[in-house]
Amino acid sequence: MDNTAAAKYALNWFNVPSVPKSYVLPEKDRPGELPPVCHTLPVIDLGKRIEAETVQHIINASREFGFFQVINHGVSDDVICDTTKVFREFCEMPEKESSNSGGNSNWAYGNSTSFTRKGVDLWRENIKHPCYPLKDCMQQWPEKPNEYREAVSTYVTEVGKLGKTILELICKGLGLEEGYLNGISEVEILSANSYPPCPEPSLTLGVLRHHDPSLVTILYQGNVPGLQVMKDGMWISVGAMPDAFVVNIGTQLEMNSNGMVKSVEHRAVTNSKEARLSIAAFINPSPSCIVEPAQALVSELNPAQYKRAVYKEFVNNSGAFGPHTKTLQRA
Ligand code: OGA
Ligand code: NI
Repeated sequence: MDNTAAAKYALNWFNVPSVPKSYVLPEKDRPGELPPVCHTLPVIDLGKRIEAETVQHIINASREFGFFQVINHGVSDDVICDTTKVFREFCEMPEKESSNSGGNSNWAYGNSTSFTRKGVDLWRENIKHPCYPLKDCMQQWPEKPNEYREAVSTYVTEVGKLGKTILELICKGLGLEEGYLNGISEVEILSANSYPPCPEPSLTLGVLRHHDPSLVTILYQGNVPGLQVMKDGMWISVGAMPDAFVVNIGTQLEMNSNGMVKSVEHRAVTNSKEARLSIAAFINPSPSCIVEPAQALVSELNPAQYKRAVYKEFVNNSGAFGPHTKTLQRA
């Protein structure tokens, strides 16, 4: 770090010797000592010819963990690298908090105190914005860094294609007709999290336990772990695979599948050594879409387990899913 960078760092909220009281969670919600062993979630290779076996592997993982990882996913390293770079640069901009007040902007930046949950601040900064329809939305994204719009829109396009592929495979695996799960089948919201190093990771969290109200979420976590997934009543830490995206089933897909695949609780922990960046692409149904168990998966023996709901109303009423869409206004 040069002197200016060091001086800037010193002013940051997270550059403290211990976790300030406002960030300390009630004991029952603290992550405590973090498990040393990282679990490898099932890894699906999308680069080879997709056989029935691969489809079954995805469905099994979605049932058992609600999560899997994909490699050879078709999103190029360059696209990922450019995107992580603009998000890192964005988080380092001193003017980031005030720069979205301009007339036509539609994005939200949250610093650590914007994410006060249960009276406790979270160890996280975040930027998020709508992405659909992309051409209109991207005009309302941050203007700085200069490469922001180009890099992030390319990322959204590529990850959107991956999302379509994944939904199509899940559709097949559930025995639904082709295209059934498409919805808008685009990335509706992109949300990038920056978790600075934390002096006492056992006391606080980056993101509290939650379900994603999406069809699927496609997360890039680079090479720094921090995602934890609830499995058989315990939190497991997901090992970081920089070549992979982590995919999780959202509540809407659980409803569509009538419970055949599961939306599983997860959270983000911090670490004392290095900053972590994660990028979550939420592939959502369109707001007016009515989400309900697919008719093909409902029978007398296997009745509908979920009430149908208009997606927009579901999201508005889902207090438990707080970290995501609530403050966003659609363009
Ligand atoms: C999310 C999320 C986890 C992470 O943004 O919904 O679960 O590792 N993020 O950042
Ligand atoms: Ni999530």
